[in-house]
Amino acid sequence: MSYSALSHLECPRCGACHDADLVHGTCGCGSPLLARYDLRAAAGLTSPQDIAGRPADLWRYHELLPVRAAGHVVTLGEGMTPMLAMPRLGKALGVPNLLMKDEGLLPTGTFKARGAAIGVSRAAELGVTAIAMPTNGNAGAAWAAYAARAEMRSLVVMPAAAPAIARAQCAAAGAELYLVEGLIGDAGRLIADAVARRGGYLNATTLGEPYRIEGKKTMGLEIAEQLGWRMPDVIVYPTGGGVGIIGIYKAFRELTELGWVRGGMPRLVAVQAAGCAPIVAAFGAGAAESEPWPDASTVAFGITVPKALGDFLILEAIYATGGTAVAVTDQALLADQREVARLEGSIICPEGAACFAAVRQLRESGWLAEADEVVVLNTGTGLIYPETMPADVPVLPASGSCA
Ligand SMILES: Cc1ncc(COP(=O)(O)O)c(C=O)c1O
Ligand SMILES: [Zn+2]
Repeated sequence: MSYSALSHLECPRCGACHDADLVHGTCGCGSPLLARYDLRAAAGLTSPQDIAGRPADLWRYHELLPVRAAGHVVTLGEGMTPMLAMPRLGKALGVPNLLMKDEGLLPTGTFKARGAAIGVSRAAELGVTAIAMPTNGNAGAAWAAYAARAEMRSLVVMPAAAPAIARAQCAAAGAELYLVEGLIGDAGRLIADAVARRGGYLNATTLGEPYRIEGKKTMGLEIAEQLGWRMPDVIVYPTGGGVGIIGIYKAFRELTELGWVRGGMPRLVAVQAAGCAPIVAAFGAGAAESEPWPDASTVAFGITVPKALGDFLILEAIYATGGTAVAVTDQALLADQREVARLEGSIICPEGAACFAAVRQLRESGWLAEADEVVVLNTGTGLIYPETMPADVPVLPASGSCA
């Protein structure tokens, strides 16, 4: 019995096929590579009924994932995060069928654990012993943790302005960590140079290797399964490098081909911060690719990506599904981060909060209808961003009273 139905790697730009059992970065043409599966074989190996009986983690979809042998799985228990109804917030926003998939419960605190679990497992399976990556913080924290568990070395470079907790996470997991006075693109140049000069490292930059996206894809697989193998109307996603939105789109296309899911493709919404919105600008211009965003800055640090390698894939997913791209201000997203905690009790990350601010905007503009079933991805816990939730509270003397 095959654990994975992985067949080959395909270039979405030039169409070239590559051997999936060799270590690959991007295609010779510069495009990210996508993993392709023998879906007919997968359908013969498993079914939604079969999957329902498996453990509640993302490995339940192993036929649609790239790791070939169960023994190569590196796991910290990731996947099957809750899909929560948001009735009070939904009512306030005029979208009563509002759901939140809460990725804040994953190991390392963000959805980055999904990509790291699959990426590190597959890299280890192919014999890789060291990974290197530029990061806005959360991906580095996740890859460092999974690398530690796989007994792999990790080299991480992140902007000096990245959230402090991510530094601590990388350091604790034994990563070789550097801060750069710049943005993620500057970190990327340092990593590419180190990988070329040192040798022996896999460059695991966003979409620079083909398997991180396969981990992110499991968000889409879980959404479909948690809705009873049915599509929602709209999915709202905080978009930086775009791996999540591309992965969710890929999941739904694979499920559609398998015939496992009812309903049409959901409209995919890419949410960005007003201080870094290259995809929103490209979408507004009807363009197929984005232009680098100058002087990028937002409190939603994970989505500070001035130019994504996979921008054309993000835009394709939006155009193909009748979706849209929206920018929200830091002020608006911070206000909705507080609103989610106040009305629903959930402490979400600023990137996730940007999605709720976008839902508010899209409902006001009429793009979202009251009847739409809307799934928001909260990509991480707010607990790793304490500076976004300042609490000014009275201090009492021990002999005081709050009666
Ligand atoms: C919390 C959080 N949300 C969203 C993103 C954006 O991720 P993607 O590359 O899938 O667009 C990041 C990336 O760092 C992140 O850390
Ligand atoms: Zn190519």
